[in-house]
Amino acid sequence: MKEISEYQSLVLEQLELLEKEKSDLALYDPVSYILSLGGKRLRPVLTLLATDLFGGKLEDSYKSAVGIEMFHNFTLLHDDIMDDAPLRRGMETVHEKWDINSAILSGDVLFVQAFVMVTSCKDKYLRSVLDLFNVTAIEVCEGQHLDMEFETREDVTIPEYIEMIKLKTSVLVGCALKLGAILADASKEDQENLYDFGVNLGIAFQIQDDILDVYGDSALFGKQVGGDILANKKTYLLLKALEDSTPQQEEELNTWLNKSTYDNAEKVTAVTTVFTDLKVKEQADEVMWEYYEKSIDFLNKINLPEENKNYLLDFAKTLIERSK
Ligand code: IPE
Ligand code: IPE
Ligand code: MG
Ligand code: MG
Ligand code: MG
Repeated sequence: MKEISEYQSLVLEQLELLEKEKSDLALYDPVSYILSLGGKRLRPVLTLLATDLFGGKLEDSYKSAVGIEMFHNFTLLHDDIMDDAPLRRGMETVHEKWDINSAILSGDVLFVQAFVMVTSCKDKYLRSVLDLFNVTAIEVCEGQHLDMEFETREDVTIPEYIEMIKLKTSVLVGCALKLGAILADASKEDQENLYDFGVNLGIAFQIQDDILDVYGDSALFGKQVGGDILANKKTYLLLKALEDSTPQQEEELNTWLNKSTYDNAEKVTAVTTVFTDLKVKEQADEVMWEYYEKSIDFLNKINLPEENKNYLLDFAKTLIERSK
């Protein structure tokens, strides 16, 4: 196994190769921009790592891994429009730097490019890769739909929230891992356990994202802090706060949720204060670690040397403990 930074470098090399071949039509400028802004490169690293874990050839996974990163970046272009986000990876979002139409269309072309890359695998894997990627892409759209629908719903439950984040975020983490395993001829059973490891880890990952959206350091996190509060996102933090609040706190939260005009900073501070008073961050942390533990249960079922599983476990832990 390699260091995580080495897998990241391999992903970067592949992205640079693509950048060299690209057309100079302005359509592709936002694509180059978003892909050049860095990010953790988590998903393609997971694909390469999975291929390596099961003894496959890394070269056989390069294109699909990069395709998964491209797909992720496509979802971010559209997500930032939907969430009215000004910042991404510490820089202006595409729809702010260009305009909404450019972000939609560049996102569309990036999605197709992602599809081309993901499916550029050996023919013998194509059926499995297509089935996995298509199902995942549909699920991500379903998750994004629910995320938006929940903004205006008042009766969202915590199990519904978990299902929503599973769809919008976790299935792609599972998919990235399973893809790497498919390309390394891992057994079906190992593929499934690795997928379930990824899905549970992905749930923990999104809970941490929701925590960082409120309590993160914008300079590190690279996104607008409080964005979820401004958009009335039904995160675990908000749902738990509504559940645990005193009548007075509940009224305070509902007042902010129903206001159509307000000062952004004032809303973020007021809602954050209720969250902090109710210690919902601590509760979200607990649930996040529960999903991390669940992910380990699946990891333990995989037929791999303990040493390799521990490697994956350590990496998973750094993801949960991240600040960006
Ligand atoms: C952001 O994903 C969107 C979520 C699913 C939380 P990442 O946190 O992996 O973003 P980058 O790619 O590292 O910027
Ligand atoms: C991310 O959810 C899900 C997808 C992009 C599919 P968020 O909306 O929380 O992601 P960030 O916080 O903007 O990165
Ligand atoms: Mg967003
Ligand atoms: Mg979103
Ligand atoms: Mg977020």
